[in-house]
Amino acid sequence: MKKKHMARGTGALVLVTGLAISAIGNPAHAALSGQALVNSKCATCHEAKTDQHWTRIGESRRTPEGWDMTVARMTFAHGVKLSSEERGAVVKYLADTYGLAPDETADHRYIIERTPSVVEHPESKPIGDTCARCHSYGRIAVQRRTEDDWRKLVHFHVGQFPAIEIQAGGRDRNWFEIATGDVAKELGKVYGYDTASWKQWQAQKHADASGVWRLVGNRPGVGAYEGKATIARTGDDRYSVAMVMRYENGSEESAKGSAIVYTGHEWRATLKQGGRDIHQVFSLGANGAELNGRWFEANNDAVGGTMRAVRADKGVPASVLSVQPAMVRAGMRTTLAINGVGLNGEVNLGRGVKVIKLVEQSAERIVAEVEVAKDVASSSRDVQVGRASGAGLLKLYKQIDYVKVLPQHPMARVGGNGGSQPKVPAQLEAIAWAAGPDGKPGTADDIRLGAVPAAWSVDNLNKMAAEMQDTKFAGRIEQTGLFVPNGAGPNAERKYKTNNAGELKVTATVKDGSRMVKASAPLIVTVQRFNDPPIR
Ligand code: HEC
Ligand code: HEC
Repeated sequence: MKKKHMARGTGALVLVTGLAISAIGNPAHAALSGQALVNSKCATCHEAKTDQHWTRIGESRRTPEGWDMTVARMTFAHGVKLSSEERGAVVKYLADTYGLAPDETADHRYIIERTPSVVEHPESKPIGDTCARCHSYGRIAVQRRTEDDWRKLVHFHVGQFPAIEIQAGGRDRNWFEIATGDVAKELGKVYGYDTASWKQWQAQKHADASGVWRLVGNRPGVGAYEGKATIARTGDDRYSVAMVMRYENGSEESAKGSAIVYTGHEWRATLKQGGRDIHQVFSLGANGAELNGRWFEANNDAVGGTMRAVRADKGVPASVLSVQPAMVRAGMRTTLAINGVGLNGEVNLGRGVKVIKLVEQSAERIVAEVEVAKDVASSSRDVQVGRASGAGLLKLYKQIDYVKVLPQHPMARVGGNGGSQPKVPAQLEAIAWAAGPDGKPGTADDIRLGAVPAAWSVDNLNKMAAEMQDTKFAGRIEQTGLFVPNGAGPNAERKYKTNNAGELKVTATVKDGSRMVKASAPLIVTVQRFNDPPIR
């Protein structure tokens, strides 16, 4: 590894582990050196091999959250004493020196973005079967280690939690032998330390995020939004952020806060947005031209939205980012807003969509009155403005053929009642679909039209739920699709005086002209998660 002089500012992650609350990024920059801190705080147990490599530290690579979890563990399991500023500086240094390249996290960002109710499909069956039993597969897939270091991690599991082999159905196999044998080899192969991506990323000059950005996104329960952000550099990998977000429903929010970039692309910001504290978990990508990710409420990460931003400084290439509304029915006349950067030239929405007049036109937004022919087929259209094109952004449809409730397997958690764990709501969305060219719904050519308003209701999922009156006790659903669970309990009014968990069925009823289209999903209202680390 190349010798670098490190004099970084503090970088405390705004994260909470089950056992140790991490510090909030302190804007008063105490210029602590992470490297010096590793030497003074860690090298007593982790022998220095070079000035940037200590045993165990230097044999794995992780996300900032992954490093924060381990450093937190060193404090409560091995007695390391760190102030929140020191912890932030150590995490910043380790994430910069031993991080993951953008493409190494691309498939598993949901786990760092804290996307609710994701059902995982492990890429490696042996790793999935052996390891994704107690925690997510994603936790593993956003780390890279030498085979030997993966094996040591298995030893840590058994050493720290001796009952591990008989937990989570572990008696179905000779867990320790398999985990230290074939699975450690597989881990070293699939998630090995040395990769071409990391070598290339280390050699690359990392982007400066400052500038003006044009953004679009979706907030389940509220809708699509577009806006702008101004990002200014305040120090080494540190920025101030000011944003405006305008929602499709006409409401507007502004946000202000600060950000730290780890590993040259891992953007972590804390902002005050519309009166609430929110966190952004974005990546600047391989070339720093985009910011992509999820943001969520600081104390309620089930509620948030997605965001995509591109640079909007002078001279950037033109691009079309979104169109609102994103779905228009055949035979309709409507007003469309096209959002992008450098927009200039003729608006072309393909055959059967006539642009009647332009109501507003700037480089960032075009508002047009359009008419969609009656006989146009349900289809996905590119939105073109001059030479810029947004692939498949506009959906045309004859009718909504069916609806799906997202997430497909939602989960909410009871909480509150003065207890330590707040309630975890579930934000549901009704997604409309149309049959594709083959005219048959449920086939590969179907067109996902987008989120639509729905009337939401809940029912008991099964006989047991009906007997326990789960609909009465587990919570209620708002017409934005937000399911709000009840207090934890125990509840003396309930049969068996049990808690307020329950098994429900949510149904979305969508009005499509004179037709009603319904979709349902099971909704599990379960107990609190008492240990909620940054990476589940
Ligand atoms: C008092 C001794 C001690 C100190 C000080 C210490 N560690 Fe550790 N560390 C251990 C032991 C023991 C293990 C192996 C067991 C485990 O993983 O908990 C370990 C394991 C690790 C691992 C591998 C964990 C994994 O996920 O497999 C990393 C990385 C690490 N330490 C980093 C650090 C850092 C960074 C510091 C300083 C902030 C530090 N340690 C300070 C004792 C220490
Ligand atoms: C029986 C439950 C169980 C199984 C099976 C299991 N783990 Fe873990 N794992 C844990 C617990 C408990 C922790 C530490 C507590 C926490 O932070 O959640 C942990 C922590 C981790 C961490 C984070 C370590 C750190 O320093 O923060 C990684 C990575 C990990 N496990 C990977 C694996 C891999 C790889 C396998 C398969 C070989 C595996 N786990 C199997 C329970 C399990």
